[in-house]
Amino acid sequence: MIEKLQSSHELIIYDSELLANPSAEIFNPQYWQAQQQVTGSAQGRGTTWFIQLEKIQAALRHYRRGGLFGKLVKDHYWFSGWDKSRSVEEFHLLHHLKDAGVHVPRPVAARVIKKGIFYQADLLSERIPNAQDLVGILKQKSLSSDMYRKIGREIAKMHAASVNHTDLNIHNILIDDQEQVWIIDFDKCFVDDGDGWKPDNLARLKRSFEKELAKCHLNWKEPDLNLIRDGYSQPLGSGL
Ligand SMILES: Nc1ncnc2c1ncn2[C@@H]1O[C@H](COP(=O)(O)OP(=O)(O)O)[C@@H](O)[C@H]1O
Ligand SMILES: [Mg+2]
Repeated sequence: MIEKLQSSHELIIYDSELLANPSAEIFNPQYWQAQQQVTGSAQGRGTTWFIQLEKIQAALRHYRRGGLFGKLVKDHYWFSGWDKSRSVEEFHLLHHLKDAGVHVPRPVAARVIKKGIFYQADLLSERIPNAQDLVGILKQKSLSSDMYRKIGREIAKMHAASVNHTDLNIHNILIDDQEQVWIIDFDKCFVDDGDGWKPDNLARLKRSFEKELAKCHLNWKEPDLNLIRDGYSQPLGSGL
């Protein structure tokens, strides 16, 4: 069940099956550090903290801006309504995708703090257990044709749910030890009508392979993209 705690300056929405009585503290990494429940971290735009909750592990992320503008106003966003804030939108989008059967983290809780005309935001989502992102994997080994097709299929499932992933890069695709593909990081992503944007997601992914390849050795070659496209074009439910 999704529950809501609302005051004049703060909103928390949460899944009561995963969290019993959340306080604002649960979005504070120091709180979890003091309880010795931080199990690890990952570096993206900022730091994502992995936290041991009662039933599951979660990933805690504070929303930060990238780029030059981000250096000036690091984590403040223009407030234009509780439901239009980033963490709340990502929370609902993850729900929508989970319901559609796409492999994405289950949303645990989202918080928005209103500060005058700005807000700050945080998200707790389920940590995908025993998973590594594509960059990390491809630095060590190559992927099978089947795995590339599975990646294509997961993207197709996301597109069948009409979700435009505006930052589909190889840091945001994970593979776990059961060889399941997971898509993460839906900040600024949204439900989009039509199909015109779908090839742009795939083009973004292609650029991401190329960009990482220019930076370091990756066990990846251009034709691997065709395998992703293959999986993407298979009819869903074909048991690939
Ligand atoms: N739910 C999750 N399960 C496992 N790892 C995660 C999860 N969310 C994030 N990560 C790790 O943290 C990194 C950064 O998180 P991400 O949500 O992509 O934020 P950003 O790219 O904006 O910093 C990811 O590349 C991934 O390695
Ligand atoms: Mg990311």
